[in-house]
Amino acid sequence: MCYRGAEMATKSAWGGRFAEELSETASKFLESWQFDQRLAEEDIAGSLAHAAMLQHIGVLSADEFAKIERGLKGIRDDIRGGTFQWDPKREDVHMNVEAELTAREGEVGGKLHTGRSRNDQVATDLRLFARSACGRVADALDALARALVTRAEGEVDTLLPAYTHVQRAQPNRLAHHLMAYVEMLRRDRGRLDDAARRMNESPLGSGAVCGTTFALDRAMTSEALGFARPTANSLDATADRDFVAETLAALSIAQVHLSRLAEELVLWSTQEFGFVEMADAHTTGSSMMPQKKNPDIAEVVRGKTGRVVGDLVNLLVTLKALPLGYNRDLQEDKLPLFDAVDTVAACAAVLADAVSAMRFNRERMRAALGAGFVTATEVADWLAARGVPFRQAHEVAGKIVAKALSEGCELAALSLETYQSIHPMFDASIFSALDFETAIERRDLLGAPARARVLTAIAEARGRLKMG
Ligand code: ARG
Repeated sequence: MCYRGAEMATKSAWGGRFAEELSETASKFLESWQFDQRLAEEDIAGSLAHAAMLQHIGVLSADEFAKIERGLKGIRDDIRGGTFQWDPKREDVHMNVEAELTAREGEVGGKLHTGRSRNDQVATDLRLFARSACGRVADALDALARALVTRAEGEVDTLLPAYTHVQRAQPNRLAHHLMAYVEMLRRDRGRLDDAARRMNESPLGSGAVCGTTFALDRAMTSEALGFARPTANSLDATADRDFVAETLAALSIAQVHLSRLAEELVLWSTQEFGFVEMADAHTTGSSMMPQKKNPDIAEVVRGKTGRVVGDLVNLLVTLKALPLGYNRDLQEDKLPLFDAVDTVAACAAVLADAVSAMRFNRERMRAALGAGFVTATEVADWLAARGVPFRQAHEVAGKIVAKALSEGCELAALSLETYQSIHPMFDASIFSALDFETAIERRDLLGAPARARVLTAIAEARGRLKMG
């Protein structure tokens, strides 16, 4: 059902001061209802809390409150059901809801805005939105973390090289590699939780800039909306959007992490690496080259990173050097927030699917271990553990690598005599040190890839992520 509001008595929606209506060009340029209607739930929740408080302090009678409550809930139902008629002339979500309330319930609708400005109203709405968005995205990141932990559990005994500079470096467990991302995601969640906690103060009652003459019960509205407390300064509360910046910063860092995971999936699914095969359901072919299987999902996740970081930069530049209090520039704060929230949540979800369904090529990973002299550090450590200064031991190990290179073989394929010709201290036990599994197991430190350490890390993550 569509209700049309009674036209305002004066020429302009802005009341008696104005002799003319806003021009069409200006109105189109200034309106924000197309995008800020996404705040409708929060806006109505804020209005319900404000109205209940107005009744509590005696500004509204019980009957007036009941009408306002009925009107707002009806509007909320219509918005939820998609039948609400947005009026482009009513600038934003706040004016659309309020004007419709008056259209439905009569004059009493005009009392809702007592002691309130759109400045504290929109600041409240946006905090409510950002607070729950932080939780939503954090949950999507947790879901990706769970997918990674599940895959890690299945790959504890899969060995591959760890890389530095994209050069084969040291032997590693695939599980340890995957769990590195779980750690990043844990901190990403932490940053979002921190941001949500810090923003959790209610601006309602800050008015347009310096509060209001009505004796509002700010603690009451704050509590009704689940805030920890009311904000402490009316200019700050209406004019700052650091909570949006903080959310976007946390989202940008998270998205950068997702891009790194995505890049490894791209790299690992090349024929050159061949460590991973993405599921058919997550890859595309080429219209020209029939052999192609492209890791598009990972590429698009990688590609969306510029967009999310752009959202952060967008907001920071909008805020830069804005004088206090509220300025209309702040209307531009919403799109980057909405965009980044949607993008990061979508990227995390699609990566969780891709990670769950992809196939690891354990043989290829194992083969890569054998061809990269990844146990050269073991040779140096073997000598250093027997008293040779590490710098010297490193030099010796380098010579052994050079020897293996010139002979075209692995370190373990050189004879003991060859080892001893380079350093007399070597004995046959050097060969057991060269075993990949042994090399990994000797890295038995907190945070290192020894089997028991990896299992502990997985168990800890399972507990934290409530994986049962
Ligand atoms: N649409 C505006 C915004 O998003 C609402 C606040 C407008 N306040 C004002 N004084 N014009 O920021």
